[in-house]
Amino acid sequence: MNFTQRFIPAFRRDFKARDSGSFDRPRYLKIASELKDLASLNSGDPDLTAAPAAVEAAVDALRTGKTHYVYRGLPELLEALGRKLATENHVTVDARTQIIVTNGSAEAATAVFQTLLEPGDEILTTDPYYSGHVGSILTARGVPVLVPTSGDTLWEPDPAEVEARITPRTKGFIFANPGNPSAAVYRRETLQALLDLAHRRNILMIPDELFERYVYDGHRHISMASLPGAADRVITLGGFSKSYCMTGWRLGWIAAPSWLAGILEQVRYAMSMAAGTPNQWGAVAALSEAAAPYYAQVYRTYGERRAFFLQALAAAGLPQRATPGGFVGMLDIRRTGRPSGEVAEIFLREGRVAMWPATAFGPHGEGWLRYGLVVPLDTLKEGMARLAPVIRTLLRSDVTRV
Ligand SMILES: Cc1ncc(COP(=O)(O)O)c(C=O)c1O
Repeated sequence: MNFTQRFIPAFRRDFKARDSGSFDRPRYLKIASELKDLASLNSGDPDLTAAPAAVEAAVDALRTGKTHYVYRGLPELLEALGRKLATENHVTVDARTQIIVTNGSAEAATAVFQTLLEPGDEILTTDPYYSGHVGSILTARGVPVLVPTSGDTLWEPDPAEVEARITPRTKGFIFANPGNPSAAVYRRETLQALLDLAHRRNILMIPDELFERYVYDGHRHISMASLPGAADRVITLGGFSKSYCMTGWRLGWIAAPSWLAGILEQVRYAMSMAAGTPNQWGAVAALSEAAAPYYAQVYRTYGERRAFFLQALAAAGLPQRATPGGFVGMLDIRRTGRPSGEVAEIFLREGRVAMWPATAFGPHGEGWLRYGLVVPLDTLKEGMARLAPVIRTLLRSDVTRV
C-alpha cells in the first residue's frame, strides 16, 4: 500500500520541496559532515549561550518547583516584555492581554497563520524568504506569495511590488526585520509605506523581529508597531533565540492587536498549551538590568565578527555592500560568474567554509550565499584564511573564461 497517498494530504506532500527550493540540502550536508575543521557559517544557531543570570534563574525555578503551567505567559515575563516593548521598541500594548509567550517565534508564526488562514488564503513574503515563514504558511494550508527583493536595494521590499501581488485572498505580509537571510534593516519610510498599504488594501503586516538587537553601522531597528496607526494592523513576532542567545530554550512572543489576541491564544493553547515555565523565569532574568552588560558584550562580539568578515572578503577581492544587520547576511558572489550552488560547493570542498547558496531561500537568492556569523572569531579567521585563495582563484578563472 502507498501509505503516503493514503494518509498524507496532497498539499503536504510537496511541503519539503517548496521549503528547500532546488538546492540539494542533504547532499550538501553529507559533504560537510565528511570534512574536518569546517567553519560552519550555514547554521542559525550560534556558539554563544544565555546570560549566566538567565541560567541561574531557570535553574532556581526548577529547584524551587516553579514548574507549573502558565498559559498566556508567566505574568512576570509578560510584564517584562511589556516594559521592553515600551522602552526599547516604542510599542504600547496591554502586556496582560496582548502579549502571548510562545515556544519560539516559530510557534508564534504558526499560531498566527493557523488563526488567520482558510485553505488557499495568501500570505506575501519576501524572496529571499525565511524558510520557517513559508513552512508556517503551508502548514496552515495557506499559499506563500513571493515578493522579489534585490541586493542592489539592500533587500528592502518595494511597497509597490508588494501591492502588485495583493489579491482578494491576501491576508497579510510577513517579513523578517532585520532580515534573515538578507540582514536588511527596514527604513522608517519603507515601514510607513507598507503600513499605509495595509490600511489601503485591508491586509495585515507581520514583522518578525527576532534579530532586532543586531543592527550596525549607526543604523537603528524600528518596530513597525511603533508607527502611528499600527495598533490594529500589525502583529509583531519576537523571540529570545538570537537576541538573547537562547535558541534551545524555545521562547518567543507575539504582540497582537487586541481584536486578535483572544482567539490567537485559544489556537496557541491547542498547539502546545504553554511555554516552559522555568525557561520563562530565565527569560525574565535575560531581560533584566543584571543581564544587560552580558548582552551588550554579545552585541560587540557579533560586531567584531561582522567587521572582520567584511574586511576579509574585501581583502580577498570580493568587497561587499554591507546591509546593516549583523548576525546573518548575504554574500554577493555575482562577480565569480557562477551559480550559487556551485560556489557554495567550491567554498565547502576547497575552503572548508560552509554557507548556504541563497537560492535555498528563493530564486532571487541566485548570485548570493547566505552566511551566519555563528562561530568564534578564531574559527572565522581560520576559515577565511582558507577561503581567501579559493576566492581569488575563482575570480581569476572568471576573468580567464571571459
Ligand atoms: C527570521 C526568523 N524567524 C523565526 C525563527 C525561528 O526562531 P525561534 O523559533 O527559535 O524563535 C528564525 C530562526 O532561525 C528566524 O531566522
